[in-house]
Amino acid sequence: MENEKIKNLQSKTKQLLQEAQSGSGILPKEIETLRSVLQFHENRYYVLDNPLISDYEYDMLYKQLEKLEKENPDLIVADSPTQRVGKGLTASFPTVPHLVPMLSLDNSYDSDDLIDFDRKARELTGLEVIEYCVEPKFDGASISLVYENNQLGRGATRGDGVRGDDITPNIKQIRTIPLSANFLDYGLQTVEIRGEVLINKNNFKKFNDALIEQGISPLANPRNAASGSLRIKDPLEVSRRKLEAFVYHISYYTVDDSKKKDKSGNQLSSTNYQLSSHSQSLEILWNLGFRSPQKEKRVLKGIQAVIEYCNEFEVERENLPYEIDGMVIKVNDFELQDKMGMTTHHPRWAIAYKFKARQATSKLLRVEYQVGRTGNIGPVAKIEPVPIGGVTVGSVSLFNEDNIREKDIRIGDTVLVERAGDVIPYIVKPLTELRTGTEQAIRFPTNCPSCGDELYRVAEEAAWRCTNINCPAQILERLYHFTSKDAMDIRGLGEANIKKFYNLGWLQSIPQIYQLDYEAIGALEGFGKKSVDNLKAAIEATKKQPLHRLIFALGIRFVGETMAKTLAHAINNILDLQNFDEEALQNLEDVGPKVASSVYSFFQNDDNIKMLKKLQSLGVQLQNDKKQFVPGGSLKGQTFLFTGTMNQLKRSEAEAMVEAQGGQIVSGVSSKLAYLVVGDDAGSKLEKAKKINSIKIISEDQFLKMIHKD
Ligand code: IVH
Repeated sequence: MENEKIKNLQSKTKQLLQEAQSGSGILPKEIETLRSVLQFHENRYYVLDNPLISDYEYDMLYKQLEKLEKENPDLIVADSPTQRVGKGLTASFPTVPHLVPMLSLDNSYDSDDLIDFDRKARELTGLEVIEYCVEPKFDGASISLVYENNQLGRGATRGDGVRGDDITPNIKQIRTIPLSANFLDYGLQTVEIRGEVLINKNNFKKFNDALIEQGISPLANPRNAASGSLRIKDPLEVSRRKLEAFVYHISYYTVDDSKKKDKSGNQLSSTNYQLSSHSQSLEILWNLGFRSPQKEKRVLKGIQAVIEYCNEFEVERENLPYEIDGMVIKVNDFELQDKMGMTTHHPRWAIAYKFKARQATSKLLRVEYQVGRTGNIGPVAKIEPVPIGGVTVGSVSLFNEDNIREKDIRIGDTVLVERAGDVIPYIVKPLTELRTGTEQAIRFPTNCPSCGDELYRVAEEAAWRCTNINCPAQILERLYHFTSKDAMDIRGLGEANIKKFYNLGWLQSIPQIYQLDYEAIGALEGFGKKSVDNLKAAIEATKKQPLHRLIFALGIRFVGETMAKTLAHAINNILDLQNFDEEALQNLEDVGPKVASSVYSFFQNDDNIKMLKKLQSLGVQLQNDKKQFVPGGSLKGQTFLFTGTMNQLKRSEAEAMVEAQGGQIVSGVSSKLAYLVVGDDAGSKLEKAKKINSIKIISEDQFLKMIHKD
């Protein structure tokens, strides 16, 4: 989007925010402006990953729109941001025909296959060198979208390639898919687009953690999670799954008649109004607000350059927030594509280059049992260490007893193990044909491996639980969770120190975190004055964490980060939650009976209230500091890393400054990093960052200017 347009939308945003905060609120005549402002910010947040306003500000505007539409129902339009939340689907999905059949892709596995593909392409086109567009092969569920006169008309699954399931209400939950897009600006009237629905690794992990916590078998991998989510009959549940979509192909379009004539009404030749290349269509989609692989794609001449880019991207794969399983190589020019044509199975002008499999076989040696924060027992298989996609895997989660029984996994089995990105490796299946008869059934323990108490299993749950709240393993897990990065983020008090202090009897409850005897710690081996000072500073600093972090940190069952934010928004002080009964809790957005019951019992428990009051007396903020939701926010969505020695700032100060403005500190150099701030004598991080084009390398001075700009 051009700068002018952005500036204009930003100034409208500012104006609307002021109006929203004023007594009278936003006026009905401004509803169109309000919608376009919200659509703009949705694109900045979901597609560009670079928001220009805070979540709080977005929510405030969104609520104004909801209010205006409620008061003036005749002003509601189908592509309003409020209309994503659908009405629910009927019992089964109707099927719809695709405008053009959804073909598959031919596969290749090494450079020889690609050289062969290029040879055939040159033969078919008669050209010596071919221009290719190369982009990632997204590993999710494929979808097709139809836009008619700028409006999203329907979204469908691939189905059998000819007909798919009409899943429009679910598709509307995906924030990277615009409900309307100005295709007519390009003369495009009816447009069919192909894309892939994904769930990013981070959200997948959170989603699975929640399932495991509830004693439900987790989903195998993000691909299954995405395709399963599209078939859920409850759009609100789909919305919770935080699906994303990349679009990568315009499979069909018609051109508006007005574009077919010049100013004097003469018919133009089709080259004047038809799309000319794949890279052009990706760019148009991007400009229209879709997430296409506009940044990831490369237009390259000749197959050698293609092979090099594929190899480069295979390394990058590990750092991506979502799963890809290869690259797709497409002849860029549409005329050439037409000339090459298709088989009944795949186009001749494209090929998939598949990355090395992330599966391997290994032997299951034994099973260990870990106790979770809420007493759930997690079986972990120890296998003969085996490299899978560049990482050595020696432990594999077995999730729960049902998973073991359903797959009939036994000790001594040769098992097929899959690792998908950052996701916990899992056993796909045992290779039963390799059994020798010496394999042994896995016997789930009847007593807690930590405290020895008897284990219980709730009827509808798959997890066995230890119900002893004083169980040492559970206490440790609760402390790990409380201090973890997404919770109170107490750096320096890592798992090793927590365990050490626990064993010394110094740290056996949450309030004791704020009562540590630093002198005694300083006397321990391995703790210098500096490290004790740092630890103290880190702990002290977290007393002022925003309330939603504290709520999440308490580890209340079913209360994840999003739910913690919902609760925090509804109260002024955490103790207010004592006054919410289950019904009042269920009136809050997205709070179902399970969450309500769990939150209710947590805040009716005297020990928990005592613990919170103790935290308060130790200086931990229980109050909702609303200001924290409206930060300067100028670094929101930006990632930073500091390397080398700085002259004007301590590293911890610099990091705190970034976080105060909504930025994030990352731990290593990868494509996820936006800014590397370089001090004196910077080493390998700087070298690595130089190789990744997207990272901006800045000095301490530049950093300070950036921080003080606003
Ligand atoms: S192009 C007619 N591009 O891979 C060509 N497909 O194995 C249409 N896929 O069915 C496909 N990323 O679901 C294309 N960048 C990409 C892709 C991609 C993932 C999927 C798609 C296709 C499957 C073939």
